[in-house]
Amino acid sequence: MFNDLILRALNGEKVERPPVWLMRQAGRYMAEYREVRGKVTFLELCKTPELACEVTLQPIRAFGMDAAILFSDILVPIEPMGIDLDFNPAPVISNPIRTKEDAESLRVVEPEKDLPFVIETVKLLVEKLNVPLIGFSGAPFTLACYMVEGGGSKNFEYIKNFMRNDEKGFEILMEKLSVSTLKYLQSQIDNGCKIVQMFDTWAGVVTPYDYDKYIFPYVDYILKNLKGAKTIYFAKNGATFFKSLKKLNCDALGVDWTITLEDFSVLTEDKFVLQGNMDPTILFAKKDVIMENILKIINEGRKIKGHIFNLGHGILPTTPVENVKFLVDVIKGEI
Ligand code: CP3
Repeated sequence: MFNDLILRALNGEKVERPPVWLMRQAGRYMAEYREVRGKVTFLELCKTPELACEVTLQPIRAFGMDAAILFSDILVPIEPMGIDLDFNPAPVISNPIRTKEDAESLRVVEPEKDLPFVIETVKLLVEKLNVPLIGFSGAPFTLACYMVEGGGSKNFEYIKNFMRNDEKGFEILMEKLSVSTLKYLQSQIDNGCKIVQMFDTWAGVVTPYDYDKYIFPYVDYILKNLKGAKTIYFAKNGATFFKSLKKLNCDALGVDWTITLEDFSVLTEDKFVLQGNMDPTILFAKKDVIMENILKIINEGRKIKGHIFNLGHGILPTTPVENVKFLVDVIKGEI
């Protein structure tokens, strides 16, 4: 039987318990993943549909989450745009975007032509799964951070300088990313994803004024134009620009662990289903501590429009597997 719990929760329906899935649920904390990954590079894994399909299914088989998330990376679509990308395991970009001319030279993604392996993975998964498949992308600003910084960053100097000192160049980059992201997410939906999540991991590094001016319009454009699926927007450290978030056109917002679900819901006028928000490091604690934290979050979730249980950010590679099983079992009422 098909488990549609998360879809009902995203519809704002009252459900018997919160649905659960975990950001980065497929990955290095699982021996099954390390075994597959031992034979291929990370990018090869993303580009081989049979393998990407297999690692997507691993956490569903092992723990029984209520949704699967397509295995790929937010940075995969920037390669066909013209970026030289490698993972080591952190992303490394050898031709960062630093000028208006660099931004002009980028291509807009055509998913069918540029990313056929993603579409193929989605099709394989939809046939096999008895839970909804979540498609995803990075949000334009988070992708721009990697493209301009050339990888991860501590102070985000290059992207912030580019944004303020070369407004036209920044606009060209963000427009190309927005059109590409919209096409990319829509192709995932058209091929069977019932839910899509946009990850804005670095949105929280700017001021609320800058969020409004440089980030919000592009996120808003994508969310307004997607058709045929439930949408989730996750801006890490996003509570500080709640006034902008309140205006977004999506079904759910992801919440990190720096604010309670109830407080976040008050700030956004209970407009959204909320997803989150356990600190991933709580999974390193003793079972009674994990239990206490799960119950607190489930209780908060009962006071708001709707709740999807998740972590406040991706699961960490050193997480003990038995604690992930424990978490899912507790939420499903099996412990
Ligand atoms: O959630 C899932 O299970 C689906 C797969 C997924 C990955 N990355 C796999 C991955 C998803 C949804 C992402 C999103 C992603 N990737 C984000 C947004 C969410 C977040 O965590 O903030 C970001 C910022 C990235 C960029 C990225 N990819 C970084 C910074 C790194 C290196 C850090 C690390 O975890 O090693 C990656 C690599 C990456 N993406 C791995 C996996 C499983 C590890 C690669 C390996 O196996 O060596």
